[in-house]
Amino acid sequence: MTPLLNIRNLHVKIREGAASVPILRGVSLSLAPGEVLGLVGESSAGKTMIGKATLGILPPQAVITDGEIFFDGENITHISVKARRRLLGTDIAMIPQDPMTSLNPVFRIGPQIADVLRLHLGFRAKEANQRVLELLDDVHINQPERVVKLYPHELSGGMRQRVLIAIAFACRPRLIIADEPTTALDVTVQRQVLRLIKELQSALGTAILFVTHDLGVVAKICNRVGVIHAGRILELSSAQNLFKAPAHPYTQALMAATPRYDRPNNALHPVPEALVKHLWDDVRRYDRGDFAKDKSHA
Ligand SMILES: Nc1ncnc2c1ncn2[C@@H]1O[C@H](COP(=O)(O)OP(=O)(O)O)[C@@H](O)[C@H]1O
Ligand SMILES: [Mg+2]
Repeated sequence: MTPLLNIRNLHVKIREGAASVPILRGVSLSLAPGEVLGLVGESSAGKTMIGKATLGILPPQAVITDGEIFFDGENITHISVKARRRLLGTDIAMIPQDPMTSLNPVFRIGPQIADVLRLHLGFRAKEANQRVLELLDDVHINQPERVVKLYPHELSGGMRQRVLIAIAFACRPRLIIADEPTTALDVTVQRQVLRLIKELQSALGTAILFVTHDLGVVAKICNRVGVIHAGRILELSSAQNLFKAPAHPYTQALMAATPRYDRPNNALHPVPEALVKHLWDDVRRYDRGDFAKDKSHA
């Protein structure tokens, strides 16, 4: 079966004056239709960049220097702005991290969702308004007739994130890039929002690339997980396997550094300095190109 998303050997660099700094170092991953793939790793690992490269919204100083991204068999690495616009919002959507800055503060909720439906699906105003109410109901927002008239600042963080989830799923995309969609929320709200994403994902068979630094989140929602450090995927396996038998020392270290609510007395161990140093030595060797000769690290 053709993977829905297939990223092959993706290299991204950031230009800084005359120099350029590697950000993604040969990332390869694929997602089957309806699959949820988690990307975990510490801050700055490159998780967001993988999502942005897939959406084609890398910052201007970031360039893809090697590798390809295929969506449903089509190479979308360097497609035109027009082709990209057709893809985004219909086949591929995103749920952003910060629900406040992702909604326009000067427009009411209803028209913001209706706009998406008119723009991407060609709905007329009246059908769009009706569909907006259904979509808000799908994300379990009470009294949608009242909520459509509110401005973003009049909603709680959790409600705003539900609105963005409604927008992401509105066009029934085949792939959603969710970048830390619960990180900005309170813990109890996080759980509800995660449950909602999972519910819609299974009901609609949507594939999700789920970016997070939270292994607890991964355990709840992902089929497979990639562990990423310094723009490299160190380990990629089923969520079940990853938790039962983490293979890479870095994965083991991340787990030891994650709070366990079921074992509140467990001591937390930060990622050991020696391991961090070893990983960065590896990265430097990779950047020098030693890896082509040294297959033991392939
Ligand atoms: N707009 C940007 N300009 C320059 N460097 C950036 C930009 N965004 C991210 N980076 C750098 O790219 C690397 C990967 O960042 P990112 O993908 O955001 O990490 P993560 O999402 O895993 O925390 C980091 O070293 C970060 O400093
Ligand atoms: Mg990020």
